Amino acid sequence: MNSLKSIYHSRLGANFFCFKLKYNHLETSSTCCHYSDTKQPSKEKPPHVPVMKHEVIENAGLNNQSIFLDMTFGAGGHTKSILDKYPGSIVYCLDRDPVAHRMACDLETVYPGRVVPLLGKFSELPALLKSHGTRQNYFDAVLFDFGCSSMQFDEGGRGFSLSKDGPLDMRMDGNRLPQNPTAADVLATADEHDLYKILKVYGEEKRAKKIARAVVEARYLFTPLQTTKELADLISCVLVNETRSDKLDRHAHVATKTFQALRIFVNNELNEINYGVLLAQRYLKIGGRLITICFHSLEDLIVKRHITGNMSDNSINVLPLQYVDNSRWHDEESIKEFTSSNWEPLHKHVLLPSDYEVERNPRSRSAKMRAAVRIS
Ligand SMILES: C[S@@+](CC[C@H](N)C(=O)[O-])C[C@H]1O[C@@H](n2cnc3c(N)ncnc32)[C@H](O)[C@@H]1O
Repeated sequence: MNSLKSIYHSRLGANFFCFKLKYNHLETSSTCCHYSDTKQPSKEKPPHVPVMKHEVIENAGLNNQSIFLDMTFGAGGHTKSILDKYPGSIVYCLDRDPVAHRMACDLETVYPGRVVPLLGKFSELPALLKSHGTRQNYFDAVLFDFGCSSMQFDEGGRGFSLSKDGPLDMRMDGNRLPQNPTAADVLATADEHDLYKILKVYGEEKRAKKIARAVVEARYLFTPLQTTKELADLISCVLVNETRSDKLDRHAHVATKTFQALRIFVNNELNEINYGVLLAQRYLKIGGRLITICFHSLEDLIVKRHITGNMSDNSINVLPLQYVDNSRWHDEESIKEFTSSNWEPLHKHVLLPSDYEVERNPRSRSAKMRAAVRIS
């Protein structure tokens, strides 16, 4: 219980990191899921359709000698397209999910000597690369395709899905790191205020207070929530008069944002992203390419902040600040330091999937791609 409490506080620190990103442009950034019982995906249906595959190839700037780091291997869709397009290339394939890692190991047998499977989180990369004798400034391009794979969403036993009943697990690492709390652990032990913050910040859930209260009441009046259906049903009861829709104007379940919030929290996703982009800079060659595909604004904001320098949105006009709030005044040197970036963006704006792709793969509808070159 005490160790869970300390996990809440370190991750809620990450919540505030995001709040800072969003609301306080003058702050500098700080450096910041059981798999044994999960089935292998079926062979008939592609386990995960890669998003913006052609755009990834076009922007990665690779050739036949390139060494590529796929930080989010998943079912290997992006990796396979690179291996096929550039027959001399080598791809290092990282994923924290042991199911995905097994698929990367299988792929190694199809492309002998060209696939290096790595099991771990972004934050475990330095140790993994060290064990392979891989130096810094090594890769020609690094790809992050953030979030969960369809394999994870589609398997009820993983606990990510609203539409499939299963245990409230949501750990991308499965049982690889058994000490890490599941979504059920969080719902059973976090206090009401921490639950509220998790839902508000990670889910951007406007009814966070009401849901947090209901979860705590359910825990005392009935029993701790154990399954995805129990949680979805509880939220449907609490928000009985609400209707919600997604970006394509399709009906969305009122518990969608709560599920997103819990998943991000359980997997410490935003801190991982922040650290992952820092590591990409360390392991890319100068002139190497960073490619990110984000699925919600919290992810994209972190990437954008790295690529454009720490001032996220508007370029800053220092003078008024001096008069508005002297404590927020910075000299030219510190402003330069805040705004300097190790990256040169390849495009002024984010790239979006084509209508054709969104029609064929609705999961791509909220994708935003960024591409940048490491300049220092
Ligand atoms: C959207 S899927 C990637 C799909 C992949 N590009 C494909 O074409 O099949 C995201 C994958 O990243 C993994 N992942 C998410 N966060 C991670 C992290 N911090 N470290 C390592 N892997 C992570 C997930 O387990 C998941 O398999």
